[in-house]
Amino acid sequence: MLRIWGRQPLRGQVKISGAKNSALVIMAGALLCADDCHIRNVPSLVDVSRMGEILSALGVKLQRQGDTLEINASHIGQSKAPYELVSQLRASFFIIGPLLARLGMARVPLPGGCAIGARPVDLHVRGLQAMGADVQIEHGTVHAYLKGGKKRLQGARIYLDCPSVGATETLMMAATLAEGETIIENAAQEPEVVDLANFCRAMGARIRGAGTNTIVISGVPRLHSTDYSIIPDRIEAGTFLVAGAITRSEISLAPVVPDHLTAVIAKLRSIGADVVADAPNRLRLIPGQRHVATDIKTMPFPGFPTDMQAQFMALLTLSEGNSVISETVFENRLRHVAELNRMGADITVKNNIAIVRGVPMLSGAPVVATDLRASAALVLAGLAADGVTTIQSLQHLDRGYENLEGKLQGLGAKLCRVEADTEPNPVDAPNLPTVLS
Ligand code: UD1
Repeated sequence: MLRIWGRQPLRGQVKISGAKNSALVIMAGALLCADDCHIRNVPSLVDVSRMGEILSALGVKLQRQGDTLEINASHIGQSKAPYELVSQLRASFFIIGPLLARLGMARVPLPGGCAIGARPVDLHVRGLQAMGADVQIEHGTVHAYLKGGKKRLQGARIYLDCPSVGATETLMMAATLAEGETIIENAAQEPEVVDLANFCRAMGARIRGAGTNTIVISGVPRLHSTDYSIIPDRIEAGTFLVAGAITRSEISLAPVVPDHLTAVIAKLRSIGADVVADAPNRLRLIPGQRHVATDIKTMPFPGFPTDMQAQFMALLTLSEGNSVISETVFENRLRHVAELNRMGADITVKNNIAIVRGVPMLSGAPVVATDLRASAALVLAGLAADGVTTIQSLQHLDRGYENLEGKLQGLGAKLCRVEADTEPNPVDAPNLPTVLS
């Protein structure tokens, strides 16, 4: 459990880790290359460890030193990923593209649904079929083979029904080693897609257009070793910007790429906070005198990220007026509402829309985290709430935030991990609370 003593002012600087979603897909991308790959700025997260276990189960050698991961996929002894591992990490499905491209076959269990929605993989499958793969789903496993004795996938023109991040990444990786040119239309434009493209290019892949809605990949016969550093995590950065706003504290963060946070910064400004760039890779959050309601609609990049929706909802519970939040990317991503309401928020939900009526104060309460970003939202609410908040089910938080409590403690927050059955006691707080005005 995480116990938080709320209403402590924050100050200082926080270091932003490497992007989780880049790290996961780039680890899968390392399967494309039969030489050593050094990947730097890899965050230390449960999801990253799980991806490492999946690669190890395929026979890949991994070694971690600090934040650098050395991956050697010269020998892939297995084309089948183990279900027990895949079922714990949806991103592990992304190995299907590289495995098929390298070995001519791949068997990956369907990742299944997850807390935030059904999350099908039909776009990945149809794209691989368009590239000449025979793809069958049998007994819960996707079996993909190269058809007709072909040695390589074939370039194809693929239109994605929706700009899926995962499908764009799967198909882009598969196309790097295909014969001929692949064009992905209506491609996802997320910074992590661009990061993956840059990683593949560093290995010798020929990719242009990543970051736009049309990506063109000219296949090459093989890729070579590389040393690559992944981008800072824009969702972790966004979460800290909200931590500054919700506690009315001035804090700064680095390294960040401000262009990855345009939609988040725009929303913070419309709420009444300000964000200034003190250096090209450093942002400072300046809270407003008053924070007011704003409407949010989640969209694919460069729109407002679904991965920041829950954290902004926490902030809007304490902003004056009524905000409308529409979740358009995932169908079941408002499960944090019930927990925020337990803390005194006033939120109603109809379908995928939440109406948040601002309240003057949240009150600390025991709450349960339902998914990764919901956990972050509850931590943020706990930082601002009156009294003690305890958050259960921290496994979600550990999947995606590197040392969140340590970083918050560094900013002056009062929080710590405790055994599940210890009673909250305000005098346990590391120092007596300084109440925010
Ligand atoms: C990735 C991110 C996740 C983020 C999401 C949207 C990783 C590891 N995860 O997830 O943090 O919230 O992008 O920015 O990078 N869909 C289909 N068919 C498919 C694939 C997707 O219908 O074959 C739908 C999904 O159900 C969802 C929407 O498309 O409703 C977007 O999903 P997608 O962009 O694929 O998200 P992920 O890659 O799973």
